[in-house]
Amino acid sequence: MNKLGFIGMGNMAIAIAGGLVDKKVFEASNIYAYAPNQDKLKKNGELIGFNPVDSLLKLVDACDTVVIACKPYQIDDVLSQVGDSLSGKNLISVAAGWTYDSFASKLNNVNIQCIMPNTPAMVGEGVFLFEETNSLPADVKAEVKTMFESLGVVVDMPTRLMGIGGAVSGCGPAFMDMVMEAYADAAVKYGIARNTAYKLVAQTMLGSAKLQLETGKHPGVLKDEVCSPNGTTIRGVASLEENGLRNACIKSIDVIMDSKKV
Ligand SMILES: NC(=O)c1ccc[n+]([C@@H]2O[C@H](COP(=O)([O-])OP(=O)(O)OC[C@H]3O[C@@H](n4cnc5c(N)ncnc54)[C@H](OP(=O)(O)O)[C@@H]3O)[C@@H](O)[C@H]2O)c1
Repeated sequence: MNKLGFIGMGNMAIAIAGGLVDKKVFEASNIYAYAPNQDKLKKNGELIGFNPVDSLLKLVDACDTVVIACKPYQIDDVLSQVGDSLSGKNLISVAAGWTYDSFASKLNNVNIQCIMPNTPAMVGEGVFLFEETNSLPADVKAEVKTMFESLGVVVDMPTRLMGIGGAVSGCGPAFMDMVMEAYADAAVKYGIARNTAYKLVAQTMLGSAKLQLETGKHPGVLKDEVCSPNGTTIRGVASLEENGLRNACIKSIDVIMDSKKV
């Protein structure tokens, strides 16, 4: 891969392109992007360093590897304009709901890899679900994996689990943000300044996640280790159970999975 092009430069593409440049995995001068709002694109280009391009065709012509990062419903229109020009190139899609088969049925001779990313990629802590069914040549696949591993964790997923995986890790940052906001509200309610509250809560979330990942301990065991008999933490745990935390979390995924059936 020599030249990386982004179709769409919104939240997700900025997270990926910005992360790759920050981590020095890809030279900003070898990254190109197209988006309809050219003023916004140029501003982001100045911030991140990539080359803004003013047409889809120019973007595809300039790059050997193209990342589709526009909204899922815009992809048919994009492919109708540049589908033929993608022949012989690598296509990486980060669009929710688009799988290898949906691209393969519309394109010829394109090396395709669908990925479900999440925005913590911006700080090198992303999750990238790689659809197991793909048509990247082995050497390119290895390069693409290495590239995304620099931005977080890469997990191979069968096609049938891409939807649920995306619901948990792609939508998940919003849920974690809500939990952080809620605990910060509680801290503020009892007198802690807002900024301090976010710092305290975010670091607690980060530290708890790291502790689980590094020890491999069951989250329930880690929770038990913090709950002393007749102590304060177990009272908080009981209150969360009483107020349906577990059920609320599972239901937040149910509504996503139900919406995919519509
Ligand atoms: N955000 C997430 O957390 C997340 C997580 C997982 C997957 N994804 C996937 O990532 C993709 C992008 O999501 P996002 O959140 O980054 O959306 P976004 O912030 O709305 O960005 C969409 C980008 O697409 C551009 N665009 C609009 N119409 C276009 C067209 N006809 N041709 C080419 N580009 C066009 C927009 O340009 P203008 O601004 O100029 O209109 C914008 O740069 C989606 O497919 C989504 O499913 C996102």
